[in-house]
Amino acid sequence: MAVDILLGLQWGDEGKGKIVDVLAPTYDIVARFQGGPNAGHTLEFEGTKHVLHQIPSGIFHPHIQNIIGNGVVLDPIVFKIEMQKLTDRGVDAAQNLFISKKAALILPSHKVLDRVSEEALGSGKIGSTLKGIGPTYQDKIGRVGLRVGDILAPDFKDRYNKLLTRHRKMVEFYGQTLDISEQEQAFFDAVDYLRTLKLADTEYLINHALSNGKRVLAEGAQGSLLDVDFGTYPFVTSSTTMVAGACTGLGVAPKYIGEVYGIFKAYCTRVGSGPFPTELNNEVGEEIRKAGREFGATTGRPRRCGWVDLPTLKYSIMLNGVTQLNMMKADVLTDFDTIKVCTHYKLPSGEITDQVPHSLDEELEPVYEELAGWRVDLNKIDNIEDLPVAFTDYLAFVEKHLQVPITIVSVGPDRKSTLKREGVAI
Ligand code: GDP
Ligand code: IMO
Ligand code: MG
Repeated sequence: MAVDILLGLQWGDEGKGKIVDVLAPTYDIVARFQGGPNAGHTLEFEGTKHVLHQIPSGIFHPHIQNIIGNGVVLDPIVFKIEMQKLTDRGVDAAQNLFISKKAALILPSHKVLDRVSEEALGSGKIGSTLKGIGPTYQDKIGRVGLRVGDILAPDFKDRYNKLLTRHRKMVEFYGQTLDISEQEQAFFDAVDYLRTLKLADTEYLINHALSNGKRVLAEGAQGSLLDVDFGTYPFVTSSTTMVAGACTGLGVAPKYIGEVYGIFKAYCTRVGSGPFPTELNNEVGEEIRKAGREFGATTGRPRRCGWVDLPTLKYSIMLNGVTQLNMMKADVLTDFDTIKVCTHYKLPSGEITDQVPHSLDEELEPVYEELAGWRVDLNKIDNIEDLPVAFTDYLAFVEKHLQVPITIVSVGPDRKSTLKREGVAI
């Protein structure tokens, strides 16, 4: 059987958590392959909202095994709190959760390093979530980091202290002093808790499951435009957010990759710094932010908002080999008479292109087409046949440009506000 992958095509927060939860019942395994507590995946059902950071979004389905893969950076403190929240809501998460022994560990000192390095960047700061993501991946690639499996070693504390000494010197390089006395106890308590869970060589778990005909869904975090290679570097995260990240982050060979669900909002958002060609720094952007409740699920920061950007979507689709598209949050655009879609960019040279240039800097001018708005509350529609013509025209326009079918249209945060367009032809 194949590993299907669901990943964000924009700058994150596309609604991955919601759709993983919707698709999960037809899978046996849901697995996270990269990122860590920088992610905030929101799920809503039966009147309750849940936000997951490191735990896969299949956790509410008791028959599903959930895997935190080797490509993830795991913060034990955040993880313990997340597990406690699930327990409080009556979910027995520990029973269905497997954590890779090869996943990288985020230490309290990684979070300090994240903060001091951001402070040093001044106005050029990345806008990191400050969860320690960058410094932890740096240690992994630098071959000095700690991994989940290390917590089982008798000399774990020595290894921890060795890395801490290194971090202390690095913080001093930034002219600051490392003080994590308040977090250290919480860290070791959380590590003790982690030891009681199912720590595994999850690459075997997944490959055995595939051999036995089981279905696996890999859940991306962040989005393709935040990918460390192809995103808006340096304003990116520190992992491979693309399909290739699922292979390295789970231990799955490329030949097993099946469907690739590319998820995007009917408009576009970004949180943190960096270029955003279609950003609306005006009342229209404000209106989208308000209607879409565009505030970060992890940090609460207001998200920057703008019109949908087809050149970047085409780029993400190309790099990921997307086979199906999921359009999210079209209900947010109800109150607009017209909807703009960026189809091309005008470069400083005057050239019109639909390719993403090396740097998406401010000189770039989006070229828009304006389509009629639908002026109907899509959230009230529960049958695909009842969608207003102006909206189906909008879907057809986007599909024509992207050349990939939109098989899911989401019209509200709840699990039930999901319209499937199976067998749709472009
Ligand atoms: P993720 O990081 O990709 O999982 O996305 P987030 O959870 O960070 O952000 C998506 C937000 O939009 C959450 O608050 C969801 O509850 C909400 N949401 C998801 N789909 C829809 C939709 O179709 N319509 C509306 N109005 N909200 C949605
Ligand atoms: P989900 O999975 C949106 C952004 C941060 C910052 C940059 C680097 O919920 O879609 P980092 O903490 O990784 O060093 O931050 O990436 N960022 C996200 N933006 N959604 C996310 O995750 C993000 N995770 C990181 O805002 O600009
Ligand atoms: Mg999010």
